Amino acid sequence: MAEAESRRERHRERFLAAVEELPLLTPTPAGWAELAADRLPEFLADHAVCEQQAALFGLNLVAHYPGDPELVDAMTALAAEEVTHLRRVSQLLHRRGLQPSKRRSNPYVQGLHEAMERENETALKCDRLLVGALIEARSCERFTRLLAVLAERDTEVADLLFDLGPAEKRHWQTFHRLAGRDVDDGWFQLRWEQWLRRERELMTGRGTCPTVHG
Ligand SMILES: [Fe+2]
Ligand SMILES: [Fe+2]
Repeated sequence: MAEAESRRERHRERFLAAVEELPLLTPTPAGWAELAADRLPEFLADHAVCEQQAALFGLNLVAHYPGDPELVDAMTALAAEEVTHLRRVSQLLHRRGLQPSKRRSNPYVQGLHEAMERENETALKCDRLLVGALIEARSCERFTRLLAVLAERDTEVADLLFDLGPAEKRHWQTFHRLAGRDVDDGWFQLRWEQWLRRERELMTGRGTCPTVHG
């Protein structure tokens, strides 16, 4: 009993710490976490694909910028960590006899990719990294919201999210830091604010599907 109580307290503290520092302009609608908790097999199947895509996204940046040692170091570490997340989610799916998802379209991520600068190389590099920051920040927000609902209902998934939420928080901060290195501070701030507004637009009307970004 005391152990369950202290677990709930740790979950609550971590939830508050992760959500407090998020840069996002709009919260996920309250009903999304209940929906994802009710339809956990669909959430977990989609979650596994997200972790796989996150690892590929990091490695893709390494392929684009192999001459940037700081980026290569951070993105190979991130990809390795995302692979450990993928392994944990996949093992959980298999243990529960749940069906994993194949690659599927993700309109939220697609919308962010479509809005990236294509003409100017410096701006494109910054945009690629800021898109990474936004996806990680939104994932962090969603995981921590779901954790708050699942803490009482499914301790195995709650423990998984308890570990993953803070990792995604670290990840968005890493992307954001890397994005700001090669560009003017004022320009960077404006760009980031523009991206945050775009993310808010893309989130409008979502929260009705039990997937990570649905
Ligand atoms: Fe992850
Ligand atoms: Fe991540």
